[in-house]
Amino acid sequence: MTKSKKVFLNGKYIAADKANVSVMDRGFLFGDGIYEVIPVYQGNLFRFDSHLERLENSLNLTRIENPYSREQWREIMLPLIDSSKDQYIYFQVTRGAAEKRDHAFPAGVKPTVFMMCNDIAPFNGKEDGVKAISLIDNRWSACNIKAIALLGNILLRQQAVEHDCAEAILVREGYVTEGSASNVFAVIDGILITPPKNNFILAGITRDVILELAAANNIPFAEDVISLDALKTASEIWFASSTREILPVIELDGLPVANGKVGQLWHRMNELLQAYKTSYAASEK
Ligand code: PDD
Repeated sequence: MTKSKKVFLNGKYIAADKANVSVMDRGFLFGDGIYEVIPVYQGNLFRFDSHLERLENSLNLTRIENPYSREQWREIMLPLIDSSKDQYIYFQVTRGAAEKRDHAFPAGVKPTVFMMCNDIAPFNGKEDGVKAISLIDNRWSACNIKAIALLGNILLRQQAVEHDCAEAILVREGYVTEGSASNVFAVIDGILITPPKNNFILAGITRDVILELAAANNIPFAEDVISLDALKTASEIWFASSTREILPVIELDGLPVANGKVGQLWHRMNELLQAYKTSYAASEK
């Protein structure tokens, strides 16, 4: 029998198959909670402070108490990590379990904290590019909160999958917001463009890293709106996220992106990102 993996739940490390949460937990009843995903390369938490800053922002916006300091969060993560492989820490904080189901915040409940560490599975076919579909972004207007309530994102991703696509490109009033679980980049007229941060997108940490790498390497870039019409003229389209890094799109809505081949700039940015990951891990040692 394979040993059940260890997870962290409310102050204790326990086997995943023994980790139980109350049915009265507001995460279960309402999706009332927030989460984070931090990649771990060579045992090092990638951009730990940026992820914790975003966690603090999500907690402030949802008015859920932060049970730990940054250093306590880091201490909790370390025992779950196997530094021999690339992994990611997933953790969530819900408002906690109340005595009765009531939409308004209950008094005196303690947040529920759950954390696990999973392997980052290599994404098959990354170098070959993926297909994408554009869909109407019908999610709520507080997408800057990294909420565990992901029903909107799930329904959109499922539509993409059913169209044989790796990801959906979401469009609100004619303009690209983000992917169902990623940010979107496009190369238009030689400029790398990604939509600006606002309440309709999650401020991706990978997105920040890509923009920093572009700035440091004289790659022309802009944070600007992208209409779906403009996107269709792009020479390159990418998705960016912690678990998939940067993923080139070679087909949008059944039509090839430019010549239907992975673009030059993707290759360059992917090299820069891999080098940055390695140097970041080394600098943390
Ligand atoms: N999702 N936008 C959405 C809606 C996301 O869910 C994600 C990541 C991103 C990219 O953020 P980052 O670069 O910080 O991972 C943008 C994670 C990976 C997930 O839900 O599993």
